[in-house]
Amino acid sequence: MTAGRPDRPPLLELRGVRAGYGEVEVLHGVDLVVPERCLFALLGPNGAGKTTTLSVIAGLHRATDGDVVLAGRRVNGATADQLARRGLCLVPEGRGIFPNLTVRENLLMATHTGSPIADVEARTFARFPRLRDRRGQLAGTLSGGEQQMLAMARGLATDPALLLLDELSMGLAPILVEELYGLVAEVAAEGVSIVVVEQFARMVLGVADRAALMVRGRVEAQGGPAEIEGALSGAYLGQ
Ligand SMILES: Nc1ncnc2c1ncn2[C@@H]1O[C@H](COP(=O)(O)OP(=O)(O)O)[C@@H](O)[C@H]1O
Ligand SMILES: [Mg+2]
Repeated sequence: MTAGRPDRPPLLELRGVRAGYGEVEVLHGVDLVVPERCLFALLGPNGAGKTTTLSVIAGLHRATDGDVVLAGRRVNGATADQLARRGLCLVPEGRGIFPNLTVRENLLMATHTGSPIADVEARTFARFPRLRDRRGQLAGTLSGGEQQMLAMARGLATDPALLLLDELSMGLAPILVEELYGLVAEVAAEGVSIVVVEQFARMVLGVADRAALMVRGRVEAQGGPAEIEGALSGAYLGQ
């Protein structure tokens, strides 16, 4: 499930992207290439700029310089809505689900752009059987792992071409993280390109096709998982 075709542009490319908060620049020229049909891991220590990078890709945060190119088209300045309509979906850090709505209501709200709820439920419960038993339960009362599954299911309900997952493992036990990444790999195998940001570097490198290591607002290394694993220990202790 590696690299796209040489005759087509990569699904996503960042060239020299700069961004910041107020006067403080935190991305100092980020270069990334995500091929089609790829599970791409974006790794790096806390504060490296991973979440900011995903926000720029998703149109939630403005790049002050550089290019964001989606399937060969420059999309700087596109709104999050426009990008969502072009198949981009961000599952934010902290899950982005509605805790006071049921599982079913959370799925229902994710479908306003497309598929009928029955289809979304059928696909969701086939992929995440545990959510079927919880469909009437308030999302806020699910376990951490189940909430993360629901967040992913909401993202997948929009039939994305590119799914961005920020810190799926946040607050979860390692055994659950492993289960979640098994599910992520399954989704990728079905043809959805995925960029995952993750602190559990070693675990995600086990399923990734490509990876990049980000340190202090720059991409220090980018390549196959083995290559990046080698670069990790120099940068920080990646679990
Ligand atoms: N809303 C914000 N306002 C000001 N600074 C921020 C904000 N969000 C993040 N930062 C800063 O930007 C840098 C990169 O943060 P972030 O993109 O969240 O990194 P990561 O996701 O890799 O931990 C950090 O120094 C962080 O303190
Ligand atoms: Mg982050």
